[in-house]
Amino acid sequence: MKILLDRREAAQVAADATLVGIAEGSKDAAFAAALSAEDTLVGGALTRAWESKEVRGRRRETTVFHRTDRAGRIVLAGLGPRPLTAEAVRVAAAECAKSMRGKGIRTVALSLASFTSADLAPDLAVRALADGLILGSYQFVQYRANADSALEEGTIALGRAHGGEEGSLKRALAEETKLLDAVLWVRDITNTPPNIATPAWLAEQAESLTELGLKVTVFDEKKLAELGCGGILAVGGGSRNPPRMVVVEWPGGSRKGRTVAVVGKGITFDSGGISLKPDLGMQEMKFDKSGACSVLGILRAAAVLKAPNRVVGVLACAENLPGGGAYRPSDIVRTYSGATIEVTNTDAEGRVVLADALAYAIAKYHPDEIIDLATLTGAAVVALGEHIGAVVGNDARLEGALVDAGAVTGEQLWRLPLTDPHREMVRSDVADVKNSVEPRYAGVLMGGVFLEHFIGKTPWAHLDIAGPAYARLGTLKFCPPYHPLGATGFGIRLVSEYLVNGPADR
Ligand code: BES
Ligand code: MN
Ligand code: ZN
Repeated sequence: MKILLDRREAAQVAADATLVGIAEGSKDAAFAAALSAEDTLVGGALTRAWESKEVRGRRRETTVFHRTDRAGRIVLAGLGPRPLTAEAVRVAAAECAKSMRGKGIRTVALSLASFTSADLAPDLAVRALADGLILGSYQFVQYRANADSALEEGTIALGRAHGGEEGSLKRALAEETKLLDAVLWVRDITNTPPNIATPAWLAEQAESLTELGLKVTVFDEKKLAELGCGGILAVGGGSRNPPRMVVVEWPGGSRKGRTVAVVGKGITFDSGGISLKPDLGMQEMKFDKSGACSVLGILRAAAVLKAPNRVVGVLACAENLPGGGAYRPSDIVRTYSGATIEVTNTDAEGRVVLADALAYAIAKYHPDEIIDLATLTGAAVVALGEHIGAVVGNDARLEGALVDAGAVTGEQLWRLPLTDPHREMVRSDVADVKNSVEPRYAGVLMGGVFLEHFIGKTPWAHLDIAGPAYARLGTLKFCPPYHPLGATGFGIRLVSEYLVNGPADR
């Protein structure tokens, strides 16, 4: 959908619906004063609904009124209690976008003043409105003959009282929509089923980024063998769709000399391999490529937003199936760095492909820091649920900066520790490390100390995004409304925020 800025008041804009934000706990007089113009358009129904407590401004509350002066609607969007936050605006806008689906409502006008306050500057409100409308309208409908109608155009009406400078609001909106384009592109790729989205197909999606001035290199199975990427080859061995490693490079803007590597787990389908998963929920494992897909989005955003640093994305792509060439429990594989892995469970495949990709990124590009994104463990979902990603690493500052960036974008991360006892537990009797340890306590940390083995001294943060990478049907109503069913693109806005606006002092 398209988002525009307009100098008029929202109710003056010709649109199928006019959206007004309303905070919980507003005084009756303040409500009446703020909404007097809109109230007359619906014959006083707004104040009646407020006084009867049908409307309270609660979070995710949306109430629709029909205009009496012409066709159209006034929609009150609850913002929850003060202070107003970007997240509250994001949620309110997304909730409205969702509730308008399938009702023939194509255009919407939003009163910017009603979504700003002393606590939330207008440019942040504009970004949050764009997030909510665009992310909340998304549906994966490429393979459906009949799809619900979705919003096509949103007009953010500046009106008299928004208090922002028009030029900076325009810039904020332009940047945010570019970033959101990347998120939607990644959602489509991630939602694409594994019969289509093979490792080679993922590599083709990466290659389309050359149009934006990014350099893309694809390593096929032959090249992976030459490089010594025994981890990716082992995991991909059981599938007729051969593995790929993909490198995407953004040369950088004003700080070219500094390099950030971003590595993603790209398992196009995770059956578990010989350590086969139970059938229940296995279809979710098409989302096991989410980390790699988010890396594509991060690189696309780096190019269109002209990230100051050089950014190198590495995607470790393979399909984990139990075919005749599959790797087995008890196999020992040699990875790119030379370090060996004892395979104790073929379902702990993400860390095996990442071992090659992380070591390759460090050896080849000497990054100043390295971040990886992976749907690595079910344990991350057990520990933190579906809304919060886990972060572990070897650098408190980097981890903290990523947590901070997530607080800005509404992508929550929570830090977990890595300790020496865990480092000991991952050691193998027959190889350097083993990929799974029984009993399966502290699964996120065990994944973390395994990956750490391939990092060395480079500042590193590992994001286990198994929870927030995709929204599941059963718990959809508890997910933020800007996460519609399926892939979310989690991590793209967060890492982009870190790369573009993060601390510059390291
Ligand atoms: N892709 C899964 C992790 C996962 C589980 C992601 C649920 C999203 C939702 C990963 O490859 C896996 O199977 N991990 C194992 C690791 C174990 C064998 C050490 C797990 O979590 O059970
Ligand atoms: Mn697995
Ligand atoms: Zn997996």
